[in-house]
Amino acid sequence: MISLLGVEKTYQRGANQVHALRGLDLEIASSEFTIIMGPSGSGKSTLLHLVGCLDTPSAGQILFEGTDLVQLSSTQRAEFRRRRIGFIFQRFNQIPNLSAQENVELPLLLSGAPRRQAHEQARSALRQVGLAERSSHRPSELSGGELQRVTVARALVNNPDAILADEPTGNLDMETGDQVISMLRHLKDEGRACIVVTHNPELAIPGDSLVYVRDGKRVDSLFREEKGRH
Ligand SMILES: Nc1ncnc2c1ncn2[C@@H]1O[C@H](COP(=O)(O)OP(=O)(O)OP(=O)(O)O)[C@@H](O)[C@H]1O
Ligand SMILES: [Mg+2]
Repeated sequence: MISLLGVEKTYQRGANQVHALRGLDLEIASSEFTIIMGPSGSGKSTLLHLVGCLDTPSAGQILFEGTDLVQLSSTQRAEFRRRRIGFIFQRFNQIPNLSAQENVELPLLLSGAPRRQAHEQARSALRQVGLAERSSHRPSELSGGELQRVTVARALVNNPDAILADEPTGNLDMETGDQVISMLRHLKDEGRACIVVTHNPELAIPGDSLVYVRDGKRVDSLFREEKGRH
């Protein structure tokens, strides 16, 4: 279970402040598929960064299976991130001169796993996303959809409790996008929370938990309020 209570995030840019999150409350059960939608700039990526321990909130509380993330030291946060979280962020691209196998192994090696174990786990993650045959290909030798599946494999390789995905289907055609999403959906059957930020309402199916964010707060719907009514 992940809970956010009154979470605020204010970025300081010189003399200006940007209030990216303004008191957000949210509960996410393990084994839930959560879809987050909202206009550009509403704070969705900021939310994923905070839950993924890439950044800390300016106010409020984030509990992750009982651990208060705000109380962790920066070393503990890094450790937490490596062990418990899988990221699928478009800006965390693959390293061009490493093969798919090596790209997936990398987070394990960085967190100190023995080489042989990293190799086996990466192989099995690539098998899970159907890319065993492509493991020696470099990023430039893979299709866009295959590349995104390598990113999914890399997010899965440390056996995380939660997968955080920021527009994972952004550059993909509909069919490949659907494949990536159904791969992610399977994860909830393994008891992992999966939080997906997307602009595409068609990704949602009955049973998903839908969260709408506007202006840094949770709202009940994204329909515009009628203006001028009294
Ligand atoms: N590091 C930062 N420093 C200053 N302002 C930031 C920073 N990161 C984000 N912001 C601002 O915070 C607000 C929320 O940004 P965020 O990236 O969370 O939006 P988003 O909902 O993910 O938008 P999009 O759908 O366009 O990806 C935006 O106004 C953005 O300009
Ligand atoms: Mg974003």
